[in-house]
Amino acid sequence: MIIYAAKDYQDMSRKAANIMSAQIIMKPDAVLGLATGSTPVGMYRQLVEWYNKGDLDFSRISSVNLDEYRGLSGDNEQSYRYFMNTNLFDHVNIDKSRTFVPNGLEEDSDKACADYNEIIRSMGGVDIQLLGIGGNGHIGFNEPGDVFEKETHVVDLTESTIQANSRFFESMDEVPKQAYTMGIKNIMAARKILLVATGAAKAQALYDSLYGPITPNVPASILQLHNDVTVVADEDALSLIREKGLL
Ligand code: GLP
Repeated sequence: MIIYAAKDYQDMSRKAANIMSAQIIMKPDAVLGLATGSTPVGMYRQLVEWYNKGDLDFSRISSVNLDEYRGLSGDNEQSYRYFMNTNLFDHVNIDKSRTFVPNGLEEDSDKACADYNEIIRSMGGVDIQLLGIGGNGHIGFNEPGDVFEKETHVVDLTESTIQANSRFFESMDEVPKQAYTMGIKNIMAARKILLVATGAAKAQALYDSLYGPITPNVPASILQLHNDVTVVADEDALSLIREKGLL
């Protein structure tokens, strides 16, 4: 595992964008595993800027996103499909028909999950998977639990995640209570993983994930078993790791 310390959010975004760009340049037909949340927004902005300068070409890139709220359509402003369109896809030359997000409107959850696993498989797997991290150590929407869920599944979001994500909605009641998410096995099958974290609210989760016991209670702790993980985090997010003298 490589940990890059960034001095602030902007520095984190730039460093993460550099790693993502290297992947796109080295393998122009790469499959990118993408993530939502506020953390990667700056990284996407940087990628768009480099695309506009002519430094990046997305024409042969494909992508699969980690997760989607159950019940939201892609044109709902709170859906992760909408997030991806507005933060990245609408601004670069990616072929949108090769960008995938779980189908939030599929009511048959077994079908939604099986379809998504098949999409990932048919693309030949993910070259680089971008991950944010929840304050409780969740990745995608893999919430703390008794077992590591393997492939795409439907989840009941925890109270803390609903609360954290309510900032994007008018009220708590509007936050969907369920989501479709890639499972731990899907995530761990990616050839490379890039985890981004910012802010003191992530310090405990980051410390527990990178240095604590590997347990489904801290879903991101499984990343300790992956052989190609790069973490880009700012000083606030790394504060506990520093305090413990581990960095
Ligand atoms: C959501 C997403 C995760 C994301 C997490 C943290 O729950 N499903 O993929 O990592 O939020 O979001 P943020 O970056 O806004 O803190």
